[in-house]
Amino acid sequence: MGKILAVYGSPRRKGNTSRLLKEAVQGARDAGAEVEEIVLRDLKMSPCLEIYGCKNTGRCAIQDDFQGVYDRLVACDGLMLASPIFFYTVSAHTKILMDRCQSLWVKKYWIDGAVFGKTQPTRKGLFISVGATKGPKLFDGVHLTLKYFFDTLDMELWKSLLYRGMDFEGDILEHPDYLKKAYEAGRDFAGAVQDGGKG
Ligand SMILES: Cc1cc2nc3c(=O)[nH]c(=O)nc-3n(C[C@H](O)[C@H](O)[C@H](O)COP(=O)(O)O)c2cc1C
Repeated sequence: MGKILAVYGSPRRKGNTSRLLKEAVQGARDAGAEVEEIVLRDLKMSPCLEIYGCKNTGRCAIQDDFQGVYDRLVACDGLMLASPIFFYTVSAHTKILMDRCQSLWVKKYWIDGAVFGKTQPTRKGLFISVGATKGPKLFDGVHLTLKYFFDTLDMELWKSLLYRGMDFEGDILEHPDYLKKAYEAGRDFAGAVQDGGKG
């Protein structure tokens, strides 16, 4: 069974995206997957300092909690990432993680010499997000961010669960159907990761 990494990107421990991701984690575990959880707000992670200390090795030079996250990101077969929409993109906690993965971008494109658009994804990602408003463009920004983040990780976006119109911490609890969908997505993700994980 493939290894799944679940990353909680909301500052709220019991917020809407966290509750959805918890369901997905449970679904994946019930399907037999090994799932490791990381709560970004519990970690000490500097933003990227743009010093390119990664340029020779592809490993970030800043010695903080990102080092352990990097190892787990590299080793997993599938990533479940949950972030609320903050100003039309991911939360600051999630963005710090993404920016620190510039080290992986450097490894892929500068050190290993990959050509953009010419590589095949070897891993899969499930993305979960919630925003307070209901506009049609609510998730447009995050989609672009995610596309290039996943490319850096050699991942394809397997599925997104995107929900509008929820603002307060427990709002998701009024939508048991969304929670059920998250559980089912986690369960099915475990199967997809097993079938088509890192070859
Ligand atoms: C700093 C900040 C920025 C936000 N920006 C947006 C936004 O651009 N669009 C939107 O619809 N909701 C926005 N929201 C609302 C959150 O997306 C919403 O409360 C969501 O349910 C939070 O999810 P969580 O409980 O998982 O943290 C913002 C909230 C905060 C605190």
